[in-house]
Amino acid sequence: MPTSSDDAARPDPLLVIDALTAGYGGPPIIDQVSCQVGPGEIVTIVGPNGAGKSTLLKAVAGVLPASGGSVRLGGQEITNRRADRLARLGLGFVPQESDVFDTLTVTENLEMGGYLLDRRAVAEQIATVLDLLPALKKLRGRKAEKLSGGERKMTGIARALMNRPSVLLLDEPTAGLSPELSTTFLGEHVRRLSEHGTAVLLVEQKAIAALEASTWGVLLVNGRRHLDCPAQELAQRHDIGELFLGRAAAGGTSPAKPAAATRAQPE
Ligand SMILES: Nc1ncnc2c1ncn2[C@@H]1O[C@H](COP(=O)(O)OP(=O)(O)OP(=O)(O)O)[C@@H](O)[C@H]1O
Ligand SMILES: [Mg+2]
Repeated sequence: MPTSSDDAARPDPLLVIDALTAGYGGPPIIDQVSCQVGPGEIVTIVGPNGAGKSTLLKAVAGVLPASGGSVRLGGQEITNRRADRLARLGLGFVPQESDVFDTLTVTENLEMGGYLLDRRAVAEQIATVLDLLPALKKLRGRKAEKLSGGERKMTGIARALMNRPSVLLLDEPTAGLSPELSTTFLGEHVRRLSEHGTAVLLVEQKAIAALEASTWGVLLVNGRRHLDCPAQELAQRHDIGELFLGRAAAGGTSPAKPAAATRAQPE
């Protein structure tokens, strides 16, 4: 559960993750992790490689079973629901390894993504999504296999937006993008989404850029939540910044090991 006094200023949450525990058959990889995201909020999860950030998003998105805890979406219990059911309830998920269809063009990928919409709404939503991610406009007719890594990622994000999700989970959306494009994507495109009321839960290696665009930050270390506070506060934590944020912000490279970088989980 949230712990900061700034919680009072937050909107009522759309997505509530409560003591979520999950793994791959052995010991839990994420252990009793809690956080929440409200409409218009951008909550960024940062932490070193292997901390469990992707595992957390996969467990929320229904692609990995949770062994404990719960997830609620708009007040409805959705723990361990199938991913396709979650899409119908308004949850969009862009995994770290983008899952676009190689042999289809960008437009065809978007049409596939809008499988919950009728034909006319698909065309409208493609126009909306391309306005949001204008870099894709000139690539509409290109097959995904001919795209660069960053363009593929962008196509995967656009695809997830096709069903007009109320909650969007983004796992390293700027991987493969240049520093400039990353800043634009986080500071403008993701922000614009949140301004339209979407609740965004973001995992990013480019931690400073992400936290600057975010309202709230969560630090995950060894599968446990160590900090849960306003994004600016997390970005300014110089004690952890050197280890987690500085290097990641500079080049999107792997942060160092977490030893001595954290304080106890503030539950
Ligand atoms: N499919 C899998 N099967 C078994 N273990 C896995 C699997 N995927 C991830 N893990 C393990 O779970 C731990 C957390 O991995 P995860 O991918 O969630 O970390 P992460 O914080 O997203 O790291 P990164 O910043 O490198 O993306 C790691 O020790 C990883 O080896
Ligand atoms: Mg990951």
